[in-house]
Amino acid sequence: MGAAIAVRGVTRTFTLGARSVVALEAVNLEIPAGTLVSLLGPSGCGKSTLLRLFAGLDKPDGGSILIDGGDPNELRASHRIGVAFQDSSLLPWRSVWSNICLPLELAGRTAERADIQGLIDMVGLSGFENALPAQLSGGMRQRVAIARALVATPSVLLLDEPFGALDEVVRLHLHLELQRIRAARPVTTLLVTHTVSEAVFLSDQVVVMASRPGRAVRTIAVDLPYPRTPATLRSARFHELCDLCSEVLFSHASGMAASTGVQE
Ligand SMILES: Nc1ncnc2c1ncn2[C@@H]1O[C@H](COP(=O)(O)OP(=O)(O)OP(=O)(O)O)[C@@H](O)[C@H]1O
Ligand SMILES: [Mg+2]
Repeated sequence: MGAAIAVRGVTRTFTLGARSVVALEAVNLEIPAGTLVSLLGPSGCGKSTLLRLFAGLDKPDGGSILIDGGDPNELRASHRIGVAFQDSSLLPWRSVWSNICLPLELAGRTAERADIQGLIDMVGLSGFENALPAQLSGGMRQRVAIARALVATPSVLLLDEPFGALDEVVRLHLHLELQRIRAARPVTTLLVTHTVSEAVFLSDQVVVMASRPGRAVRTIAVDLPYPRTPATLRSARFHELCDLCSEVLFSHASGMAASTGVQE
């Protein structure tokens, strides 16, 4: 079962020379175990920063993040977090197969051949098991990163724009696969996306963020029934929810040009 995540008053400010950039200001979130929550927001609103805090790769300046009541570092140390970050960061000297096996090796676990092949088939890379990352397209590399994030059956899955470079057909296929995997084993999932329809299709909740300073402005519950199918994309409720998310997103984007968010 996935882990519950509680974010209380989280603040993260970066210093760039004499200036400071408020990447996250007083973010509060409650993420129930086993749910999928999307972070939707404009470039620079702190989505990746928040994901790095969840992954235990960075620390907030103020506030707290608790995963099942513990520090994100504990979960990271026990290899229970699966991550696919924006720059897929595959190891260039390792094949597709061996990149996907990496989290298991780090956790001191042995790879089941059938499981690895199953993941490779799922992300549509059969026949490319021995290819090196440089021999793949950008979208194929992203699919390797998704398979790698899932291989160790994590309690928390952190996906930073994992479907960004994929064509529409592959994207929908992977949306349905992710849903299938999560139905079998409800891993708590944080998905960063710029795409409103993707957020609504996949999520239990959409957290709309705004920038300068980076903050969570509204959480929208997605009450579409499961399983979500291609027919969901044509339903009236799906379109209503997309419109609502867009409205919130754009209502907070209007002042963007006027404000730099940078404090001297
Ligand atoms: N290590 C860092 N040092 C200095 N500033 C940083 C650092 N990491 C992030 N920032 C700043 O924090 C802000 C938020 O960055 P972040 O990468 O979280 O945005 P994002 O929402 O993921 O954007 P995008 O959609 O473009 O990926 C930006 O203004 C960025 O310049
Ligand atoms: Mg980012």
